[in-house]
Amino acid sequence: MKIFHNKSELSHLIDDFKANNSTIGFVPTMGALHDGHLSLVEKGLSENAIVVVSIFVNPTQFDNQEDLVKYPRTLETDVKLLKTVSNDKIVVYAPTVEDIYEGKVQSQSFKFDGLENEMEGAFRDGHFDGVGTIVKRLFEIVRPNRAYFGEKDFQQLQIIKKLVELYHIPVEVIGCPIHRAEDGLAMSSRNTRLTADHRIAAPFIYKTLNSAKTKFGTKSAKKVTEWVEKQFSKQPLLELEYFIIADTETLKPVKRKSTKKTYRAFIAVYAGDIRLIDNIALN
Ligand code: PAJ
Repeated sequence: MKIFHNKSELSHLIDDFKANNSTIGFVPTMGALHDGHLSLVEKGLSENAIVVVSIFVNPTQFDNQEDLVKYPRTLETDVKLLKTVSNDKIVVYAPTVEDIYEGKVQSQSFKFDGLENEMEGAFRDGHFDGVGTIVKRLFEIVRPNRAYFGEKDFQQLQIIKKLVELYHIPVEVIGCPIHRAEDGLAMSSRNTRLTADHRIAAPFIYKTLNSAKTKFGTKSAKKVTEWVEKQFSKQPLLELEYFIIADTETLKPVKRKSTKKTYRAFIAVYAGDIRLIDNIALN
């Protein structure tokens, strides 16, 4: 498996692939890979000649410095895991901060038609400026035909689609379903940092999302939200940050339900120090 730490070397390889008209799939990650990431890589391999997987803990998208410092960095294990999927069709790009930011670790400021102001945008200052900056930069370096993003970060997926549209980036953005542990907890690199008790408590998040989905069939968004808030108030190990039912397209919180629209419920929960997010399609 080829592993690159700097963009000029990777760029030569990309040039060769482009010269052969081979299609390039791209899966950007921050590493600490799990089966959720691998499902994106597998989808990419089924549709492209090669898949570039970037592994880079992007400093500009963290609003919380402690979270950035403690974010798991496990390159060796990540490479081993990727090798179990394919040894010759995956290329790893694991750049240094300097290779990406060239001495200026700063985000560009973006407007994504208001998508950036909701939920994660409201609760994590500057988060989507950081995500927009790194993904735009990575698209310029990797020049993929297709890029794969998980619905686990549904707002991020919508924002990347908007980024590509606004900047006329020639890449097809493909959303992939949420991969879950057997007990329903959405897989996340942060799950490895949960205490044993918090890990046992965490599947309650998805369980509650499912119940919310059923209730949304007959009840208003306000009633469902109140019900979810009540359930979490009875959970000593989980602290609800937000539960929001929003329009799938605009991500604006629903005021009055319309049968013509689709909705999703979005949730952020603290399990001790660890912040977990999840979401579910409601109709
Ligand atoms: P990271 O959290 O490592 O996630 C990388 C990709 O894997 C994202 O598209 C994310 O939605 C997807 N993913 C994570 N957990 C998943 C799961 N359980 N099921 C399906 N897909 C899942 O998202 C980021 O990194 C960063 O913001 C990044 C886009 C790399 C920019 O730095």
